[in-house]
Amino acid sequence: MARVAVSAVAAITFRRPTEADHAPIVELVDEWWGGRHMRALLPRLWFRHFSGTSWIAEDDRGRLLGFVIGFISPDHPDTAYAHMIATNPNHRRLGIGRALYEQFFADALAAGARQVQAITWPGNRVSVDFHKRLGFRPDDGSGTTPIYGVPAYPDFDGDGQDRAVLIRTLPGA
Ligand SMILES: CC(C)(COP(=O)(O)OP(=O)(O)OC[C@H]1O[C@@H](n2cnc3c(N)ncnc32)[C@H](O)[C@@H]1OP(=O)(O)O)[C@@H](O)C(=O)NCCC(=O)NCCS
Repeated sequence: MARVAVSAVAAITFRRPTEADHAPIVELVDEWWGGRHMRALLPRLWFRHFSGTSWIAEDDRGRLLGFVIGFISPDHPDTAYAHMIATNPNHRRLGIGRALYEQFFADALAAGARQVQAITWPGNRVSVDFHKRLGFRPDDGSGTTPIYGVPAYPDFDGDGQDRAVLIRTLPGA
């Protein structure tokens, strides 16, 4: 557990998720994503098998401020993959998302990873801008094309499911 002061939030506590966190979090993800249907992307398995590379941020009363769920790629051990990150809509733009990612970057570095990847819909401007501020760059390699002004892979996740692959090199890589 770690305590970090972040701008307007007096103190944030970071801890590893447990399976007990799944039910309350899955109930609020659609709302936190502004009404998008996200809960299908967060089955309980993330809380059962990926706790050691995921984090929950809480305030001093134990209220949820945000979470990041991720893992070190089994096929590409040099890569950590952030599956989902979100912060409480009442506490945005306060540095909590950055602080969560810094916890995740530390896990990735400790595991020997050299880069972090995340995937987002290129039309999600908030996600794209947030990740850029965190040092991620959209993969603009072969097969990408600008979508909503962002290099992205058309149909990456199936028909019509375009995605930008966001990559951040870790220090020392
Ligand atoms: C994206 C999200 C996690 C950002 O969380 P946050 O706690 O507000 O982010 P922070 O306050 O730590 O901001 C970190 C940086 O991103 C920037 N940023 C955050 N929100 C932004 C926005 N809406 N537009 C532009 N930049 C933004 C901040 O300015 C900050 O930059 P700086 O530190 O260089 O000044 C949050 O808006 C969210 O949960 N959105 C819904 C879920 C989502 O889309 N998740 C990402 C895809 S998985």
